[in-house]
Amino acid sequence: MDPNIESASGPAGGDDPAPAPHAPGGETEALTPTELRLRAVAVAARFYGVDLDISEYRGPAGEPYPSPASLVKWLTEQGLLAKATVLKWKNLFRFRETSPVVILLRDGTAGLVIGADAQRDIVWVKSPAARDSEPAVAVDRLRLEQAWGGEVVLVRRAVAQTDADAPFTLGWIFRQVGNEKKLLWQISYASVVLSILAIVPAFLVMSTIDRVLEFNSIATFYLLFTLMLTIMFFDMLLGWARRELVNVIGAKLDAKLNLQIFSRMLGLSLEFFERSQAGETIGRLAMVAKVREFITGKLLTTVLDASTMLILVPVLFYMEATLATITFAVAGVIAIIVISFLHPVGRLVGLQVQAEHKKMAVLTETVHGIRTVKTLALEPQQKQIWDERVAESTGWRLAAGRMANWPQTMIDPLQTFMSRGVVVFGAYLALQANSGVDRGALIAFMILSGRVSSPLVSFARLMEDFQEVRTAVGQIAKVLNNPPEVRNVSDGMRPRFEGRVAFEDVTFTYPLGSRPALNRVNFDVPPGTMLGLVGRSGSGKSTITRLLQGINREYSGAVKIDGMEMREINLAHLRKSLGVVLQDNFLFRGTVKDNIISGRAGLTLEDAVRAARLAGAEEFIERMPQGYDTWIEEGSPNISGGQRQRLAIARALITNPRIMILDEATSALDPESEALVNANLVRIGKGRTMVIVSHRLSSLVNCDLIMVLDRGEMLDIAPHSVLVERCSVYRTLWNQQNRHISAAQVATPALTQGE
Ligand SMILES: Nc1ncnc2c1ncn2[C@@H]1O[C@H](COP(=O)(O)OP(=O)(O)O)[C@@H](O)[C@H]1O
Ligand SMILES: [Mg+2]
Repeated sequence: MDPNIESASGPAGGDDPAPAPHAPGGETEALTPTELRLRAVAVAARFYGVDLDISEYRGPAGEPYPSPASLVKWLTEQGLLAKATVLKWKNLFRFRETSPVVILLRDGTAGLVIGADAQRDIVWVKSPAARDSEPAVAVDRLRLEQAWGGEVVLVRRAVAQTDADAPFTLGWIFRQVGNEKKLLWQISYASVVLSILAIVPAFLVMSTIDRVLEFNSIATFYLLFTLMLTIMFFDMLLGWARRELVNVIGAKLDAKLNLQIFSRMLGLSLEFFERSQAGETIGRLAMVAKVREFITGKLLTTVLDASTMLILVPVLFYMEATLATITFAVAGVIAIIVISFLHPVGRLVGLQVQAEHKKMAVLTETVHGIRTVKTLALEPQQKQIWDERVAESTGWRLAAGRMANWPQTMIDPLQTFMSRGVVVFGAYLALQANSGVDRGALIAFMILSGRVSSPLVSFARLMEDFQEVRTAVGQIAKVLNNPPEVRNVSDGMRPRFEGRVAFEDVTFTYPLGSRPALNRVNFDVPPGTMLGLVGRSGSGKSTITRLLQGINREYSGAVKIDGMEMREINLAHLRKSLGVVLQDNFLFRGTVKDNIISGRAGLTLEDAVRAARLAGAEEFIERMPQGYDTWIEEGSPNISGGQRQRLAIARALITNPRIMILDEATSALDPESEALVNANLVRIGKGRTMVIVSHRLSSLVNCDLIMVLDRGEMLDIAPHSVLVERCSVYRTLWNQQNRHISAAQVATPALTQGE
């Protein structure tokens, strides 16, 4: 036997303390179990073209090595489909065409099953530490099961991504419903049961009346009474089953739609949110409630009714053909009326919905900007706008209601005729001497026809609501069908950054801009540079930082980090590797600690403290009543601007990013807070590339390089001392901002001269 197989067995008990290479496969480097497990899943991921950076892994605290669940969570975050499960030996033979199967060994290490030979009853195993060129090792059942308890992680490319990328349409929604095989099965099962429940009592009535009515006795009365009770009971059961079904399906669909809509919304580009009003977007997305209500309410009921009708219609014709014909003819007329009003009603409803969104937008805007509204005493103006919007939406609502009133008015008498007129007509038929009408059938018909006429009418009504739902879906689609930022989170490279940043002939114009925001910008700074950006407002400083973050990607030329084109780098990875602090940073509701860590897995209070210390935030956090557990409200009214900025810097620093961007981070601060933050910048910048935008040149004098921008063009890039000499725009700015200093400088020689 292959001597290598010996090493495959390993100590079964797992009580060997040394992280020895238990995983089968030739030579192995000395790797910890954690590294082996991560490498193993990384190899499986690479099979699908996804490069994982195992140093990025942050498992929950207290795990000696990654548990199957933690590995799955991590893989899922990276855009793969992963599943942890327990397999038997013979199951390993089923995975020949897929990626390597990651087997998790008892001692915390892992191996990769890359093939299996059922005839020889062996599997081919490779150690994650082995080089690509090394051959796999044949392992038999006995050996493997000594080290392996059956735990595996299966990795697949996320096929669901393609479904999530599909445009949001009604068809898409129905496909989502259609994917719920179990639910659909429940529905069809239920509708058959419901149909039987609906028919049985009528047949009971029919047969008993035919047999008993002749005797005209009190017994007949008791019988009828009992029958009535039975029918009531069945009806009760029927109602319960229906409502239960609608509840369950409604809840499931609601959860599904909500999850999908939120994740799609998050996938949209920042550009989209910048050019659309928040209120309108929220209003549109809220229309999902309407879609859900329609599908689980009207549509589901109708589907249930329709299946009942399929069974009932022949029964009705069998019982009393004339009456059945009349019933369906009337239903046909109702349908024609409803359909002919579909278009005009739908148009008005669409207009009303639009007006409603505009109204919502005013509300949101006012609430968001309430500080400005109050301080500028804009209440009357806002009220005026609101009044106009309310008038508009009310007007359309009235118009739509009026239009919908017409078909309703015409349908009402027809509906009455269907339920009562048919009874009268039936009685007339029964009274005719030799009509041959079966009385039992007549009564049964009356019981059943109620079950048919109302669904027929609601079926026609369905079309009306359908129109409304189409509008709703259209509104949601206007938000969700904007191009997503990246198609697939698993696309692109995930390198470890050093921090070299270069722009090569970059020209960029905003989608709605008239002239380029950046015009042929060229620069190249080595890792660890502290780069300052200056220029007038609108000169393109923020645009440079936006291109670096991959917010705008439709530029010409190349933006490179460590020589790699920005657009080839995985976007999620890029953003995680950057630390960004803006002028106005949003702190979320939660504690100081939560805000600094902001949900990143595997980070502890210690990391938060370290980041806070580096950001110069430690001093004031420790003075807070509950320290790191101090609660911050939305909009953070309980901390000052300077404190908020320092928290934001700590939050950006927590991942120890190679590249840090500060866009006017200190511009809104008072001089003292600004000086505090600036004093920390040099310390923060150690070992990373810093891109600092500021319109106050004094905070940039210490930068290694300062870039001067003007109307999207790069005028110069050099250290401060050089720029003051050779760049006139910079000199002008410098003199403007430091008039007092230059005045003093000018004054001093004058004095010496005078002496
Ligand atoms: N989202 C946007 N859409 C359209 N034009 C924009 C957008 N953001 C900025 N611009 C324009 O691009 C130019 C550069 O803007 P920006 O980089 O923000 O300047 P700075 O940060 O130097 O003040 C300006 O003329 C500005 O009007
Ligand atoms: Mg700016």
